[in-house]
Amino acid sequence: MRRWQGNGIYFGGDYNPEQWPEETWSEDIELMRRAGVNLVSVGIFSWALLEPAPGRFEFGWLDRVLDLLHDGGIQVDLATATASPPPWLARAHPEMLPRQADGTILWPGGRQAYCPSSPVFRERSLELVRAVAGRYAEHPAVVMWHVSNELGCHNAHCFCDVSADAFRRWLRERYGDLDRLNDAWGTAFWSQHYGDWAEINPPRTVTAFANPTQQLDYLRFSSDELRAQLRAEREVLKTLVRQPVTTNFMIGMGVKHMDYQSWADDVDLVSNDHYLTAADPQAHLGLSLAADHTRGVAGGDPWLLMEHSTSAVQWQPRNVAKLPGQLRRNSLAHVARGADGVLFFQWRASRAGAEKFHSALVPHAGPDTKVFREVCQLGADLKALAEVRGSRVDADVAILFDWEAWWGVELDSHPSADIRYDDRLNALYRALWRAGVTADIVHPSADLSGYRLVLVPTLYLVRDADADALRRFVEAGGTAAVTYFSGIVDPDDHIRLGGYPGAFRNLLGVRTEEFFPLREGERVRLDDGSTADVWTEWLHADDAEVLTSYTDGPLPGVPALTRRPVGAGAAWYVGTRLDEQATDRLVARLLDEAGVRPAAQAPTGVEVVRRRDGERSWLFVINHTDEEVRLPAHGDELLTGTRCAGELTLPAGEVAVVREDRT
Ligand code: GAL
Ligand code: ZN
Repeated sequence: MRRWQGNGIYFGGDYNPEQWPEETWSEDIELMRRAGVNLVSVGIFSWALLEPAPGRFEFGWLDRVLDLLHDGGIQVDLATATASPPPWLARAHPEMLPRQADGTILWPGGRQAYCPSSPVFRERSLELVRAVAGRYAEHPAVVMWHVSNELGCHNAHCFCDVSADAFRRWLRERYGDLDRLNDAWGTAFWSQHYGDWAEINPPRTVTAFANPTQQLDYLRFSSDELRAQLRAEREVLKTLVRQPVTTNFMIGMGVKHMDYQSWADDVDLVSNDHYLTAADPQAHLGLSLAADHTRGVAGGDPWLLMEHSTSAVQWQPRNVAKLPGQLRRNSLAHVARGADGVLFFQWRASRAGAEKFHSALVPHAGPDTKVFREVCQLGADLKALAEVRGSRVDADVAILFDWEAWWGVELDSHPSADIRYDDRLNALYRALWRAGVTADIVHPSADLSGYRLVLVPTLYLVRDADADALRRFVEAGGTAAVTYFSGIVDPDDHIRLGGYPGAFRNLLGVRTEEFFPLREGERVRLDDGSTADVWTEWLHADDAEVLTSYTDGPLPGVPALTRRPVGAGAAWYVGTRLDEQATDRLVARLLDEAGVRPAAQAPTGVEVVRRRDGERSWLFVINHTDEEVRLPAHGDELLTGTRCAGELTLPAGEVAVVREDRT
C-alpha cells in the first residue's frame, strides 16, 4: 500500500488568487464553501510573484490566502511554485532556455521555458522550494505538496549544449564503456562508430534517419532528467515537511515523453490530469482508459484526479462544452475507477491570459450558471460517497503498457507509418468497455498472477524477463492475446532474430517470415466475414490452431488469428488490424474463455465498475445512453439515498452508486 490515506473524497481545483484583487478572495471562500470544496492547489504559477527579484521573497499575499482558506475550512495542496521560471531568471541566464533539435531557442512569454538539465534552473528552483516549504511546512491548511506542474508538458526535450553534456553523462552511466554503447547503438552501420564520448550528441536535426537507439536513449534520458527535477524537489521537501508529496502526471492523453511508470515511486500519491478529446464522440471511453491507466501506474491504489475541466478547454481546435449532466458523469467515472479526489483546472475562470476561455468552477458569468449549479451538485455527491475512499477497483483483465515500447514503436524508418502505439490499446480497451469489463493497464513487469486475461497490444520492445512472465502467466492457466508488431526488438532496439514476433514466437506457436503492410485505405477480408486494414504478415502457424485466415489481399489463405493451448491456459495471436466488430467478437471470445464477467449485466453504453474494500463493495453505474436503463442491483443507492431491491432503474445520463448488500 502506498503512503497516502486521503481524508474524505477531495473536491476542488487549482486556485490562482494572484490573478484577482484581494476583494475577490472572500467571495471565493464563500463560494467554495457553498460548493463543498475542500481542497485547492495554490501557488502553481506564482514564482514570479513570490520571488519578484533574485533572492527577494514576497510571501505576504500567500500568507493571507492560506490563512483565509484555513479559516474557511478549506485545505491546501501547496505548490513548490517552480512550474514556470520568472522572466528575470532567463534574462540573467539565457543559457537556460530550451533549444529544439534544429537549434531554435524557446523564449519566455509562454510557460516552462527552461532546459530540464540546466544547473541554474535546478539551483534557483530548489532555493524556491526551500523558501516555500520552510515557510509553510507547519501551516495548518497545507495537507499536500504539489511539485512543479505537469513536468515536461512543453519542455520535455532540449538539444542545447548543456543537455548534450548531460546526455553524455547519462550514457556513461548506462553503458560504462564506449564499446558497449557502439554495440547497443549498432554504430557499425553508416560509419557511425564513436571513438570518444565527446563525439556524441543528442539526436539533433540530421541529414537522414537518425540512429534509432540514439533516439531511444535520448527519450529515456529526457524522461530521467525531468524525473530528476521531481526527485530533487521531493528531497528538499522531505527534509522540511511531513505532508504527502505529489506531482500531476498526464496519463492517458497521448502524452508520450514521460515514463510515468518509472516515476511512480517518487510520489506519495499518484495524481493525474485528464481532459476530454473534444473531437472524439466517444471521449468518455478515453476518460475511462486514462483513469484505468492512472490506477495501473499507482499499482492499484487510490489516486487523485488533480485536474479536469468543468466544461470546455481552450487549447483544442474546437473546444466543445459539456452538456448538462456530463460534468457529473465524467467526475464520477474517475471516482468509479479509483480516484479518491476530483479536482479541476481551475477555480475561477481567468479574465486575462491564454487560458481566459477555459472553463472553471466559477465561470465568467458567475455562480448563477449551469456550471456552478452542477459543481455544487457534485460537491454534494462526493460527500455522499465519502465511504468509498481507500477502496480498490475490481479488475480481472490486464492490458500491458510500456512507455519504452511506445517510444520504440513510433521511431521512424519502420514498415508502416500507420502503426501507432495506442491504436490497438484503444481498440481492445474500447471493446472491453462495451462489454462492461474493467481492465487494469499495467507495466509488463507487473505481477500478473491476479488476472484471468492479459492483452498485449503492439508491445514492439520487450524485455526477456517480461516476455517470460507472460509465458508463465499462460502456463498457470491464464489467457493472453498478443497483437501484431509485438516482441520485435530487445531494449537496445535490436531485432529478435529467427522470425517475428520474436520474443513471443514460442509462446504463440507462430513464426512470421515477412511483413506485408497494406497501402493507405486498403482493406482485406477474412474467412469469418470480417475485414482488416493497415497490416498483414506472412505467418506460419507451426504450433497453433488457425482461427481465421485472409481470403484476399496480398496473402490469401495465410492465418490472421491463431490460438495455442499452453499449459493450463492459451495464447492468442492477432496478426492484423481487425475492424471494430471483429475486435468486439474477439474480445467476447477471450472473455468467455478466461471466464471474465462484467461488473453487472447492463445494456451497452452503460458504464459499470465495482470498487471493493474487504467485504464491502460499491457498484458504480453511469448511463451514457439517452434512454432509461434497468439492471440488477441489491443495496443502498448513495446519491439518492434510496433502496435497490433487486433492480436499479437509471434515467438517461444519470449516475448511481450502490453500496451492495453482503451476500
Ligand atoms: C494543464 C495545466 C494547467 C492548465 C490546464 C488547462 O495542462 O496543468 O495549468 O494549463 O492544462 O487545460
Ligand atoms: Zn538543454
